[in-house]
Amino acid sequence: MCGIVGYVGPREVRPLLFAGLEKLEYRGYDSAGISVLNGEQIDLIRAVGDLSFLRDAMAENSNGSAPPVVADGTGIGHTRWATHGLVTEANAHPHYSTNSRIHIAVNGIVENYVTLKESLVKDGSVFTSETDAEVIAHLIERHYNGDLTKAVRDAYQDLIGHYAFVAMSVDEPGVLVGARKECPLVVGRGEGEQFIGSAVPAFLKETKRVQYMNDDEIVVLRPDGVEFLTVDGEPLAREIDEVDWDADTAEKGGYETFMLKEIHEQADAVAETIGERAAAEDSIDLGDLGQISDHLLRNISRIVVVACGTSYHAGLVGRYAIEEWARVPVEVEIASEYRYRNPVVGPNDLVIGVSQSGETADTLAAMATARNAGASVLAITNIVGTRMTREADGVLFTRAGMEIGVAATKTFVTQVAAFYLLALRLAELRGALAPHDLSSRIAELKHLPHLMSEVLDAGTATIEKVADQVYKQNFFMYLGRNSSLPIALEGALKLKEISYIATDAYAAGEMKHGPIALLDESTPVVVVATNSPVLSKLISNIQEVRARGARVIAVATEGDTEIDAHADEIFRVPATNAMLSPLLAVIPLQLFAYFIAGHRGLNVDRPRNLAKTVTVE
Ligand code: F6R
Repeated sequence: MCGIVGYVGPREVRPLLFAGLEKLEYRGYDSAGISVLNGEQIDLIRAVGDLSFLRDAMAENSNGSAPPVVADGTGIGHTRWATHGLVTEANAHPHYSTNSRIHIAVNGIVENYVTLKESLVKDGSVFTSETDAEVIAHLIERHYNGDLTKAVRDAYQDLIGHYAFVAMSVDEPGVLVGARKECPLVVGRGEGEQFIGSAVPAFLKETKRVQYMNDDEIVVLRPDGVEFLTVDGEPLAREIDEVDWDADTAEKGGYETFMLKEIHEQADAVAETIGERAAAEDSIDLGDLGQISDHLLRNISRIVVVACGTSYHAGLVGRYAIEEWARVPVEVEIASEYRYRNPVVGPNDLVIGVSQSGETADTLAAMATARNAGASVLAITNIVGTRMTREADGVLFTRAGMEIGVAATKTFVTQVAAFYLLALRLAELRGALAPHDLSSRIAELKHLPHLMSEVLDAGTATIEKVADQVYKQNFFMYLGRNSSLPIALEGALKLKEISYIATDAYAAGEMKHGPIALLDESTPVVVVATNSPVLSKLISNIQEVRARGARVIAVATEGDTEIDAHADEIFRVPATNAMLSPLLAVIPLQLFAYFIAGHRGLNVDRPRNLAKTVTVE
């Protein structure tokens, strides 16, 4: 994530940059900064924490001993969501080149930064941060020969990864150069002034006239115009669109609600979480896991996952993957129960706390219980600097960006992706998968975001139609088996929390031991029936359900025709490895819950009685 903003024009740039950053704060808020051209230098102001800290630093900069800031009208700003490097002022953007004449703001990940950094350092570049992004400033300086646009184009060719950035130079007042590869960047057109940002809200108050950038394009902003170029410098035509969004819609990226926007961000969030960790074909690199060393991962005898709600469901998917691929026994515990048991846990165990917020009181307490008993503790969380990150022995960050909708969606899929990465790393370290199988699983995992995009792009007509037919029902049953069981649980939780409809979710094989008594002709039964080793068993369970007259809504794999005879409605997802299919199957169920809640006229972003961060037990 991270948010970028930029301005060229006659006005005082600092308030414009700050206003833009405020609108992009949802993209990250662990630190922020601005760079503003000031005569023969660029003034850099950065601060750790949310934007109130940057505001204070800016006030100090204009009143204190630092050089005065004048209205030069060329500047860039950034709000950070840490990926590489701790949350420190030095790691906050903008970053600058060795001669301080080039400043950049970057969103995304530079995968080949280690190699680039080595060669730049050899050539005399002096780095001031631990970030991957800083290499871009030094690369531009290396290529700079009086033409910022050319230097950005040349630097772009050296980079591997996915990123968007904007650069400015002391030597070219009134010029900003942007580049985009798989991360958003959009231009706002004004009269005698131009804007650039990670998203339209960054400048919507100033202009509704926008130009969208595509991947592998360079854009040059000057107060009197904007040029789009290929990376080879060929000019590109670009129409100007007029957005008719109000500020609120814009923050939601044109979606009606944050939840829908976040559902649609899931493929990117998973791609970002997997990112360079799965860059190699035959190995997973989990980066710095603190005290959770490879030696420890090789030798632990058990994993215990502690979590609440949706994060608990992510742990359940993780159990299937870790046990299947790495052959390490896993238990998954509800944190609020675990903390008050007298659990048998000790030095041979790795306890994993999972929490999108990193602040859930019960999960923190469960982790503390395990740590006090001598276990090693790993956190899987989305937010840098939270209590969970401080109290764990190591952290595996998800990279979902900020989630505003109270119902977890994109944080869930990134937690599951983190478990897949961990499962494969454990399998690799412990030799539990043959090298060929390990490579195949890594390749399938890397392909997963594409398949998620396919599900998201497929349209929602069938899901909306079925939601329209059933939204007045007052009870839904969800069923699954094997790795689809956690998705049944998660689908049921999504529906109940945003639509206030009673749901139950069961392992399909358990139905006949009691819950089947709940079913009659009016009960919709949602079955997660994607490809799995036990699909035929699940189909037998569906037959038991249908014999009671219940209506079956199945999530099934494309090409599986057998299911046609057993379900009244089918939401299709592409085929993938059965262990990975939960990340596809969950999407139609999130959308199903979403449309049902919408039909009932409910506020899906803020369901009653719930909070995004649960810091009380
Ligand atoms: C449901 C949901 C909750 C959270 C739970 C734990 O959509 O979001 O069930 O999963 O409150 O929260 P975290 O992950 O912050 O520990």
